[in-house]
Amino acid sequence: MTTVDRVVGAGIDRIDGPAKVRGTAPYAYEHDPGEPIAHVALVQSTVNRGRITQLDPTRAEAMAGVLAVLTPANAPRLSGDLASDLPVLQSLDVHYQGQVVAVVVAETSEVAKAAVGEVSVEYAAEPPDVRLAVDRPDLYAPEKIMAGYETDSVIGDVDGALAAAAVTVDATYETPTQHNNPIEMHTSMARWDGDQLTMWDANQGPHNIVNDLVAGFALDGGHQVRIISPYVGGAFGSKAFTHPNQMVAAMAARVVGRTVVLELTRQQMFSLVGHRTPTIQRVRLGADPEGRLSAISHEVVEHTSRVNEFAEQTATPTRVLYAAPNRRTTHRLARLDVPPPTIMRAPGETPGMFALESAMDELAHELGIDPVELRIRNEPTEDPERHIPWSSRSLVQCLRTGAERFGWAGRDLRPGVRTDGRWLVGTGVAAATYPARRRKADCRISVAGTPAGPARYVVEIDGSDIGTGAWTALTQIAADALGVGMGDVELRIGDSRLPFAGGAGGSTGLASWGSAIVLTARELRRRLEDEYGGQVPPDGVTVDGGVPGPSPHAQERSMHSFGAHFVEVRVDADTGEVRVPRATSVYAAGTIVNAKTARSQFLGGFCMGLSMALHEESVQDEVHGHYANHDLAEYHVATNADIGEIDIAWLDEDDPYVNELGLKGIGEIGITGAAAAVANGYWHATCKRIRDLPITPDKYF
Ligand code: MOS
Repeated sequence: MTTVDRVVGAGIDRIDGPAKVRGTAPYAYEHDPGEPIAHVALVQSTVNRGRITQLDPTRAEAMAGVLAVLTPANAPRLSGDLASDLPVLQSLDVHYQGQVVAVVVAETSEVAKAAVGEVSVEYAAEPPDVRLAVDRPDLYAPEKIMAGYETDSVIGDVDGALAAAAVTVDATYETPTQHNNPIEMHTSMARWDGDQLTMWDANQGPHNIVNDLVAGFALDGGHQVRIISPYVGGAFGSKAFTHPNQMVAAMAARVVGRTVVLELTRQQMFSLVGHRTPTIQRVRLGADPEGRLSAISHEVVEHTSRVNEFAEQTATPTRVLYAAPNRRTTHRLARLDVPPPTIMRAPGETPGMFALESAMDELAHELGIDPVELRIRNEPTEDPERHIPWSSRSLVQCLRTGAERFGWAGRDLRPGVRTDGRWLVGTGVAAATYPARRRKADCRISVAGTPAGPARYVVEIDGSDIGTGAWTALTQIAADALGVGMGDVELRIGDSRLPFAGGAGGSTGLASWGSAIVLTARELRRRLEDEYGGQVPPDGVTVDGGVPGPSPHAQERSMHSFGAHFVEVRVDADTGEVRVPRATSVYAAGTIVNAKTARSQFLGGFCMGLSMALHEESVQDEVHGHYANHDLAEYHVATNADIGEIDIAWLDEDDPYVNELGLKGIGEIGITGAAAAVANGYWHATCKRIRDLPITPDKYF
């Protein structure tokens, strides 16, 4: 093998870019199964809680082109212990508005959708209970919260320290329900060949879905299900777990004996594939006059649905961000008549960091200390709750570098003192953090010599590219690990038949899949060296390898990425309009694999945080229980017109503990803290502290 230049770190263009812009990269809806496709449409409940009393499909069944109408009376029975809302059409009970109560399968999507209106359904409805409040008597402590964290953490005497503190903050912050809103809607094309199910599907990783389909359809094992998803148009957590759409597609295909496709509409996305729970968070901070924290308390109330327990880890960033001898974090849940919540980009950390980083800004003001300086003074030398060293931590450097790039020096601590015409101008800062994890991943690499040219390496792993750039970054990693050029590597991902890998979630993708590729490549090179004198034998060589799970150092080192956001906020004194004309975000997340796609991830994360700060809110009707603003016209997601100049930078960080590549994962850190930076800048511009997101224009008055 000849040596080639390393490509990890370079800003390589996406290798899938040309196919995407030409429209030749097949998304789930676009696969050609080689036969006419039948179309699926959904009849959804119009009440939020109750029971179906009458359901008559006969008019729909009589329509030309309708192949079947599935109802709780005739739908295939699903077996197993299916969680959440996956037992579709298995009972007459209604748990949320928008629940699937019947399914139409027809020759065309037009006929299917028209037939939906011909299915008559009557309900015995009960008034829904959808109000989240801290004074609900039925709040309860879940046994564990997401990602296996403890529900509460209590260290020292928080109340005593707060009572004795020279300066305190006691504030309650609220974040609304939000919806993931990827561009590509959730789509499942399903086909049965005997007891073999093939599904072309938009997801973040197939294995949860395979397992649920195996359970639901009482199959012998995962070998009977194949899920194919080479290209996915965004997900943000809403495509991580199985939702009713995959169950419905598989049921419909089984009933009509043909390939069917179900593409959710944007409106259906608001009830059928999860949302970010709303939160109510009380944060109390106590500090000495120099700003050293003596106590941090962060108490969270959030909701879950009646049919699933989803306990988001909202206060967990508070367990790692700042030093303080006395600390408390708690999570309490209310079971409400809402659709099942799910993960949404940095689930937990995102709303949690809004509260904590707003409270730190309030404390800085109480103390008369610069908010950057306040954070630096509370930098912990070790993980403040686990009492173990960091694998690496560069928050202070991110704050200092960001302040420098943004031009923070000389900022007036006083709020409400800068204007530019009718604009009130302020600046704000907040920290960012997200855990760095690695998960089990298998990998297979085969190499065969070609008579005419260099060896060709086929790298197989069931990673998925949800739009992040994984196709490109994994090819870079493989090329470096094999010591060859990217053109000599053929990557295969997005197919459950490939060697097992966990989904694209929790910012674990590259850390897990990349590590598996590195270790497998290392083993392949060793074998070529030891057994074939460094030459590729004519018959080729195949090596199976991978990583078993978390880093072996995960118990003795605390592993997180960090960052800092700086924003300028302008508020129109006449209309309350809020603009963020410029921002700087600096990150330290270990090795950056692709400078171009990484910048896009950081940028996208920050923009999603800005969108959360200013726009995003799913409004649930308290009487009827539905989400009133269930489309992109009324649920506004920040667009180009909402985004100003954003300066993205990252620091070199060498972390030998996290994984083989020293990378920490970058999919989620960008959103954490971003909303707080905007809210803090808004306060600095206006003197108004908005503690309930989003900061809409009316809140100025
Ligand atoms: Mo992310 S919410 O783990 O897709």
